[in-house]
Amino acid sequence: MDSTTLTDLARRGLLKGAIGLAALRVLQPPRAAAQVPGNPFTLGVASGDPWPESVVLWTRLAPDPLAEGGGMAVAPVTVQWQISADPLMRVPLQSGAMTAHPESAHAVHLEVHGLQPGRTYFYRFRQGRHESPIGRTRTAPAPGSEAPIRFLNAGCQHYEHGHFTAWRHAAMEEEIDFVFHYGDYIYEYAGRQPGTRGWGPVARTHHGGETFTLEDYRARYAQYRTDPDLAAAHAAHPFIASYDDHEVENNWAGLISQRDGGARFPVATPPEVFALRAAAAFQAWYEHMPVRPSARPRGTDILAYRRLRFGHLLDLHVLDTRRFRDDQPCGDGVVLPCDAVLRPNAQMLGARQEAWLRAGLAGSEAVWQALAQQVFLAPRRFPRGTQSMDSWDGYPAARSRLLAMLTGRDAAVLTGDVHRAWANDVPDRPGGAAALVEFVGTSITSEGDGSDIQTTAPEIMAGNPHLKFNSNRRGYTLHVARADRLEAIYRAVPFVQHPDAPVSTVAHFVTQRGRPGVERG
Ligand SMILES: [Fe+2]
Repeated sequence: MDSTTLTDLARRGLLKGAIGLAALRVLQPPRAAAQVPGNPFTLGVASGDPWPESVVLWTRLAPDPLAEGGGMAVAPVTVQWQISADPLMRVPLQSGAMTAHPESAHAVHLEVHGLQPGRTYFYRFRQGRHESPIGRTRTAPAPGSEAPIRFLNAGCQHYEHGHFTAWRHAAMEEEIDFVFHYGDYIYEYAGRQPGTRGWGPVARTHHGGETFTLEDYRARYAQYRTDPDLAAAHAAHPFIASYDDHEVENNWAGLISQRDGGARFPVATPPEVFALRAAAAFQAWYEHMPVRPSARPRGTDILAYRRLRFGHLLDLHVLDTRRFRDDQPCGDGVVLPCDAVLRPNAQMLGARQEAWLRAGLAGSEAVWQALAQQVFLAPRRFPRGTQSMDSWDGYPAARSRLLAMLTGRDAAVLTGDVHRAWANDVPDRPGGAAALVEFVGTSITSEGDGSDIQTTAPEIMAGNPHLKFNSNRRGYTLHVARADRLEAIYRAVPFVQHPDAPVSTVAHFVTQRGRPGVERG
């Protein structure tokens, strides 16, 4: 972020004004389906995948967000766009028009090129007499830049478990280059009424049943996007979006459903049937994320892993740990490991992604290698000897191959999935020295208010001394990549059941260049 520009904007009150406007506009109630479509920008705007001279701008036209087709007529629609260096957009640098197609839910993914590296830009869309909120974005620094890179790691935002207050703080208070969203952007579960049994209390309710069809997934994303705090975060910062399991189904693996005909799910979903659900889920994910058009799925084929470069200091390798993995061994879940855990050809990334990562790491001259991914990498044995088969503990041969690629590099693994913050040394072999560090981000809301520390954490840490820190509060991690160290600043809110919680720093860890291992910052 240009600190002079930001300070100047903040002093003039323009920054909050622009983002506040974005939030205000998405708060407008959706019109009834029978009425003539009104404001089509109820889902706000977003930007993503910043390169030094290019960024993706996104919106989706949906005057009635929860209605089929977002309340749009089934016809192509022309959308105008503008990008400017000026927060009030008095002097557009570039402008143009593009078509929003009903086949893609009237979502647009515009790749703007010809921008300057390391700069802040503002953008908006227009359709007919309606103007979108103004969004702010930022390009990656020029190759060779030594400027520190500031970014957030966040995800796991169960709508029913609380308010997205952490996103409000991310939008208004964090001066960052980008947000990495590790996934669980939506949850696929049916709406649950307050007071019913289930996973934590209900702060607000999902619209509709469990998501299976394309229209189900579209409506679920639309409901999440009408949240003003999430909309404000998208309007304030570029996102680098990935996905975990709940964008499709809990603990899916490759094209294998968790409904496997076992004790928990006696009626199995065959892979060719699950593929229909996965294709719908991928299509809706693409339609709602500000990703490059190269990530557009073709049925169940989707290429979401990719590499983004931030000057000389940081290469961000965004991994897909779901689409190409083999099935969780030993019946999945947290279980005593069976022999299948030790299969030598275990695949977490799949052979092709693994080769792509190996080549990318070997060819990288960046100071820091960040693996932006989903599931817990460090070994984690629970008190009764059980391990999570859904994490890298279910794929130790794949983990060994990954660690071999990273030996001797200055690397940090960024993780989510477990709804708790952790800071871990990742040993090079059982009981060995730290080869690299893992910073696990907590959830935005999933599993509710939480507590300062997970009740079982002291026992888990005693049995796994390479796990150095735990927090059971909701929030995100602020990372700063510098020439001599990479920082992890854990930011959390004390509650999510009610809105307007303050945010504070609950821990600060660093890893020093040339000295793997987490240290207190
Ligand atoms: Fe989650």
